[in-house]
Amino acid sequence: MNQKGLSEKEVLSMLDTASLKDASYDNVLSAMCTRPHPIAVKAHMQFIASNLGDFGLFPGTKELEENVIRSIGELMGDPCACGYITTGGTESNIQALRAARNIAGRSHPNMVVPASAHFSFDKIADLLGVEIRKAGMDSVFRADIGSVEGLIDENTIALVGIAGSTEFGQIDPMDKLAKLALSHDLALHVDAAFGGFVIPFLDKKYDFDFSTKGVTSITADPHKMGLSTIPAGGLLFRDASCLSHLEVDTPYLSIRKQHSLTGTRSGAAVASTYAVMTHLGKDGYRKIVDGCMKMTARLVDEAREIGVSPVIDPVMNIVALDVPALDEVRKRLRAKGWFTSITRSPRAMRLVIMPHLTDEALTRFIQDLKECLGN
Ligand SMILES: Cc1ncc(COP(=O)(O)O)c(C=O)c1O
Repeated sequence: MNQKGLSEKEVLSMLDTASLKDASYDNVLSAMCTRPHPIAVKAHMQFIASNLGDFGLFPGTKELEENVIRSIGELMGDPCACGYITTGGTESNIQALRAARNIAGRSHPNMVVPASAHFSFDKIADLLGVEIRKAGMDSVFRADIGSVEGLIDENTIALVGIAGSTEFGQIDPMDKLAKLALSHDLALHVDAAFGGFVIPFLDKKYDFDFSTKGVTSITADPHKMGLSTIPAGGLLFRDASCLSHLEVDTPYLSIRKQHSLTGTRSGAAVASTYAVMTHLGKDGYRKIVDGCMKMTARLVDEAREIGVSPVIDPVMNIVALDVPALDEVRKRLRAKGWFTSITRSPRAMRLVIMPHLTDEALTRFIQDLKECLGN
């Protein structure tokens, strides 16, 4: 740090230089986050100093959080669900499994997740001392129920289902997982970090939320398809008593107990989520999801025209394309400014069609893909 501070102008110019090095979302096809909605940014700025880690000082922000949780709960099939706004999918998944572990009270706990589960579950295994058991997939990359059942034993504390898998955007057969969970008296956590703000707005209906008996907790992130600011994750429990299994005493705060993983936490992200959800309403989100799904369909059609097929028919706005010479093609696309990513097995080009992708950008991408394939 300098001994003497620099002027605001100098500092802002340094920030401009740094931000110019960052990717603008325009050419990003690899991310599950997007530009936040303008009203989310305004709300974020208004509540920039609010700390929900000590919510006794911020009752107004706390009220907004209660409203937001009710709205996300309604979207997830249970307006009475309880929870809080986390820093993102990772924290929500950690806390859901932490509650399940604390409730079950096994000495050598294990959890059964599909092989498609996000890497946050590997962190959970390490952090919480819960063995991770990865179940096989069916032919369209959903959890194979027979494989899940085969991994359950007397030390299993929870099953995990994914609603919007990171790589393929696939939805596990939640009704079947729920039946398994109920018959073995296990928690069933649904990771809908991405799908939570997509699936309710798709034309086709899927079992994935609290409407399915047996689902005990859900992750659904406002900072992904919810168009809120970062860091805004959603964690919901069907049963309010689950939160008490996460609580610690907080003797020197304005509140007596705290159930969040982080201490200090952003009230700004809560206000931002409240603002964007209230402003868009269900109709607004449906329009956004419709737009992304139309672009996804267009991408698949036009990729097929240049000889590239999707590994599965997309369920949501995530496409895995079976591209020959994948690494080379991705390198060439990168040289043209595009950010793409990969799926692990099978290896394919993974593209996430977020609201920031314009029709014009998609036209350029297809043209560039065609050139990079050497067509
Ligand atoms: C299905 C799923 N779960 C959890 C996460 C982790 O979310 P975050 O990066 O917000 O912690 C992701 C991130 O992409 C995800 O796709």
